[in-house]
Amino acid sequence: MGRVVPLLVLSLVLFSLVLLSPITSTATPTHPSVIIVGAGMSGIMAAKTLSDAGITNIQILEATDRIGGRMHKVPFAGINVELGANWVEGVNGNEVNPIWTLANDLNLRNFRSDYTNISANFYKHGGGLYDSSAVEEEIEKTEKVEAAGEEIVPELAENGRDDISILTLQRLLDHVPTDPVGMAVDYYTFDYEFAEPPRVTSMRNTIPLPTFSNFGEDVYFVADQRGYGSIVEHLAGHFLKTDESGNIIDSRISFNKVVREINYTDNGVTVFTEDGETYEADYVMVSVSLGVLQTHLIRFNPVLPNWKILALYQFDMAVYTKIFIKFNETFWPTGNGTEFFLYASERRGYYPIWQQFEKQYPGANVLLVTVSDEESRRIEQQSDEETKAEVMDVLREMFGKDISEATDILVPRWWSDRFFKGTFSNWPIGVSKNEYNEIRKPVGRIHFTGEHTSEHYNGYVHGAYLAARVLFFISFVYTIESDNIVLKEIFRLLCNHTCVCSS
Ligand SMILES: Cc1cc2nc3c(=O)[nH]c(=O)nc-3n(C[C@H](O)[C@H](O)[C@H](O)COP(=O)(O)OP(=O)(O)OC[C@H]3O[C@@H](n4cnc5c(N)ncnc54)[C@H](O)[C@@H]3O)c2cc1C
Ligand SMILES: *[C@@H]1O[C@H](CO)[C@@H](O)[C@H](O)[C@H]1NC(C)=O
Ligand SMILES: *[C@@H]1O[C@H](CO)[C@@H](O)[C@H](O)[C@H]1NC(C)=O
Ligand SMILES: *[C@@H]1O[C@H](CO)[C@@H](O)[C@H](O)[C@H]1NC(C)=O
Ligand SMILES: *[C@@H]1O[C@H](CO)[C@@H](O)[C@H](O)[C@H]1NC(C)=O
Ligand SMILES: *[C@@H]1O[C@H](CO)[C@@H](O)[C@H](O)[C@H]1NC(C)=O
Repeated sequence: MGRVVPLLVLSLVLFSLVLLSPITSTATPTHPSVIIVGAGMSGIMAAKTLSDAGITNIQILEATDRIGGRMHKVPFAGINVELGANWVEGVNGNEVNPIWTLANDLNLRNFRSDYTNISANFYKHGGGLYDSSAVEEEIEKTEKVEAAGEEIVPELAENGRDDISILTLQRLLDHVPTDPVGMAVDYYTFDYEFAEPPRVTSMRNTIPLPTFSNFGEDVYFVADQRGYGSIVEHLAGHFLKTDESGNIIDSRISFNKVVREINYTDNGVTVFTEDGETYEADYVMVSVSLGVLQTHLIRFNPVLPNWKILALYQFDMAVYTKIFIKFNETFWPTGNGTEFFLYASERRGYYPIWQQFEKQYPGANVLLVTVSDEESRRIEQQSDEETKAEVMDVLREMFGKDISEATDILVPRWWSDRFFKGTFSNWPIGVSKNEYNEIRKPVGRIHFTGEHTSEHYNGYVHGAYLAARVLFFISFVYTIESDNIVLKEIFRLLCNHTCVCSS
């Protein structure tokens, strides 16, 4: 990274100055140069990037009452836990993950996640642990699948057709999991990272995954009471006014502002918020999640062109749910090599991955169980009491009938939340690199940033960060045309049935 980034930043600054300085000099404070929709990692970094380039006449509109978006700590069980992003993923490799640098600058308390003993921690339905050698056999099969993928992917062309799902690759190698242990290993290897099953996930864009091949294989769990999102607050403090206690008091950011409509012409943009306010600017930078862009929360006038709508709707917004459960006492194993454990059910993805926090939150007696995709959607729609009952049944399967009842449970609902509609993007089969690039291509004066616009790191905090650092640079340099004739035809046929249609 060392040499690449300064160059990129320099080009970015030059581009931004050339392109935007004539506008800033004529703008008035009531007419910002750029409106930024959303104050997550990408929105804040986009604003900071503009600010660093001398474009300080900006207005950030955020739907919630806080900064950070999908980085969000909440109080639970007497501590703060992370509802959203928790790990710095991709550490100890050739390049330095910029989020790792920021986390260390802020001294964020963190723990390397050690999965090396995972094979000794697979629980049977009905109690007891699987023999670790049986689990290791399944892990080796998965590693063979990944190794085969790494060998063939560089040979494939960059179009959508030269792609298969991870499941297809497994079938080709005759390594399709068929029993509880195999399915648990499969879930742990793929769904635990992408939040979608191998049937859905693109091979060519995830094997190898740039996050791990560029930044390193290690992941570090952030367990700091200030929250992982304090990184975003820290970045915001660089360019927004704060009081002595560090609270942001800058009128260039407004909270509880739900953007519902964006009108755009060759000359400028008009943004409407739910509370009836109107904002005018030269440009708008939309940083809301892909999930939000796939709904009609924000109406664009004129409607976005077909290539843009197709690019947004073809990609996937996955759902990954971190359920925290509090107990009066610890009844699970503790000590080295026990942090992560799995429940190998016949029902794939049923409360599969568990983590205990003796190191991170000593004395809190808190467990984390992770589910995703269909299970996440199912659980979001039932009551927390029902979920707690299911969780207790699974724990009794693993640890026996006599364990103590949970005293509290925390069930995030990212999918139901109209400001997120999921947790992070995942690359499904059949979407070409060109079509992916169209997600970040600007439409007139509307620019896009966010995790889903990162060139190599979609789905991650560092993706959100890096996407926003190269915003104007990328936007103006890339010229992309849709190459998907089949989908163009689908769109033509659908035109009589849908309101999202343009020429
Ligand atoms: C459960 C979960 C676990 C994750 N785990 C990890 C992890 O361990 N490691 C990792 O690297 N990444 C992880 N991620 C992904 C990471 O959190 C995201 O990639 C990143 O935070 C996205 O930042 P963003 O700025 O692109 O989007 P967001 O954080 O979603 O920011 C967009 C902002 O726009 C606002 N908004 C939405 N609609 C409107 C509107 N109409 N008007 C105004 N504002 C609006 C939202 O409130 C939000 O604040 C996880 C995410 C989740 C949810
Ligand atoms: C925004 O565009 C829509 C559709 O063209 C129009 O009905 C609306 O009046 C516009 N609003 C403003 C304030 O221009
Ligand atoms: C646990 O691991 C740490 C670090 O590897 C080591 O220092 C410690 O002695 C181990 N503890 C036990 C009880 O084995
Ligand atoms: C691995 O996990 C098992 C089961 O929890 C545990 O008994 C063992 O001590 C762990 N081994 C190491 C080396 O950490
Ligand atoms: C947990 O401890 C509290 C306080 O001692 C007690 O009131 C409660 O009944 C306990 N709950 C369970 C499920 O054991
Ligand atoms: C769409 O509707 C128009 C007008 O009713 C009709 O002429 C046209 O054939 C329809 N197109 C398709 C693809 O069905």
